[in-house]
Amino acid sequence: MKPMEIKKGIYWVGVVDWNVRSFHGHTYNTSRGTTYNAYLIVDDKIALVDTVYGPFANELINRIKEIIPPEKIDYVISNHVETDHSGAMPALMKLCPKARVFGTAKCKEGLYRNYYENWDFQTVKTGDTLKLGKRTLTFVEAPMIHWPDSMFTYCREEELLLSNDAFGQHYASNFRFDDEVEVCGLMDEAKKYYANILWPLGALISKKIEDVLKMGIPIKMVAPAHGIIWRKDPGKIIKSYLGWAKNETKPKVVIVYETMWKSTEKMARLIMEGLTDSGIEAKLYDIADADRTLVIGEMLDAKGFLIGSSTHDNDMLPNIAGFLELLKGLRPKSRFAAAFGSYGWAGGAAASIEKILKEAGAEIKMPSISCKFVPDSSEEIKCYEFGKDFAKMLQ
Ligand code: FEO
Repeated sequence: MKPMEIKKGIYWVGVVDWNVRSFHGHTYNTSRGTTYNAYLIVDDKIALVDTVYGPFANELINRIKEIIPPEKIDYVISNHVETDHSGAMPALMKLCPKARVFGTAKCKEGLYRNYYENWDFQTVKTGDTLKLGKRTLTFVEAPMIHWPDSMFTYCREEELLLSNDAFGQHYASNFRFDDEVEVCGLMDEAKKYYANILWPLGALISKKIEDVLKMGIPIKMVAPAHGIIWRKDPGKIIKSYLGWAKNETKPKVVIVYETMWKSTEKMARLIMEGLTDSGIEAKLYDIADADRTLVIGEMLDAKGFLIGSSTHDNDMLPNIAGFLELLKGLRPKSRFAAAFGSYGWAGGAAASIEKILKEAGAEIKMPSISCKFVPDSSEEIKCYEFGKDFAKMLQ
C-alpha cells in the first residue's frame, strides 16, 4: 500500500494491521483489525506525527522512504506514548538521530521508561506552536484521553486535527476516509472504541471537546491514530463523542447472562418477550459465547441493563462475573439495571449481581427475579412481566 496524501504535502504513512484480533492485553477484541496511523508533513521543515506499533517499524520506514529519505525528518511529534504509536520510534530515530521529539512532560517520561533513549526532547504545553514553513502546528494537551501523556496536534492552515486515540476506531481498511467505507460499520467501531476505552473518562472528554471548540479552531478533518480519517463530516464524530461523554442514552435494554442448564437462558428469553411486546429495543447475549467488546459497545447508548446468571457455589458463574468486573471499571452512569437467574438448592447469583451493579454505578429500582430449577408456567409469566415492568420504567 502506498502512502496516501490526505492534504497537499501531508501523507498517511501508517500501517494496516489486518489480522490483529485482540488488543490491550486481550481486553479488547479487534474483530475488524486495526490501523496505526502516522502522518508525515512535508514543508520547509519535515515533521512526522506519531509512529506505529514496533513490529511494523519497517513498513512505516519504507512508506516514508517513498516520499523523503527518513534522515530528512526534522521533528517527530509524539501525541501519545503507548507502544502502538511509539513502538517504531527506536528504529526510526536511528535513521534521523538529530530529529527533535515533541510531546508532553508525561510523554517525555513515558518514552524514556519504555525505550531508555536520550532523544532531543522538547516538552510542549497547550497553545505551544511549531512553525514548519507554510504551516504551523499547535499542541493541545489532552490528559487522560486516554493516558496522562495524551495530546492533540492541530494544523490551522489545513484545519486538520491529529487527535491520536480520540475519535479512532479499530477498523482495518484499504481505504482511508469516512466517505469511502460503509458508515454503519465505521460508527459501530467508533462506538465500541469509545465504550471500551473512553467510557469512564466522559467528564474529561466533554470538557476537552468544549475547550477545543471554544478556542474557535475550525476543524475540516479529524485524523486519528487508529482507523479511518473523518473528512466528510468530522462534526458527526465530535457530536457523537459529546453525546456519549454526557451519558446520553435511549430506551434500549441489553440483556447479558450466563446459563448452566438453560433455565437462566429461558428466563432471559421470556424477559426479552416482555420488552419486545412493550416496544423496547433490546439485545440479548450469552456472555460465555459473546464478544464482550461488542456487548460493551451495545451498552453505551442503552438506558437499561438486565444481568442474569445461574447460581454456582452460592454466587454467579465465572464468565458473567468477569464481564461485570469489566463493566464496573467502565463506571456507567445514569443506567437502570436489574438481576435475574435460576438456582438449584440455594440462590446467591442475583444478590451478587445486584451488588456489583450498584458498585458499577447503576441504579437498581426493581427487585431481582429468581427461579428454582426450571421456571414453571406461573414463573414464566412473572419473567415476561418482569420484562414489561422494566420497559415501563424506561419509557
Ligand atoms: Fe492507540 Fe492509547 O493507544
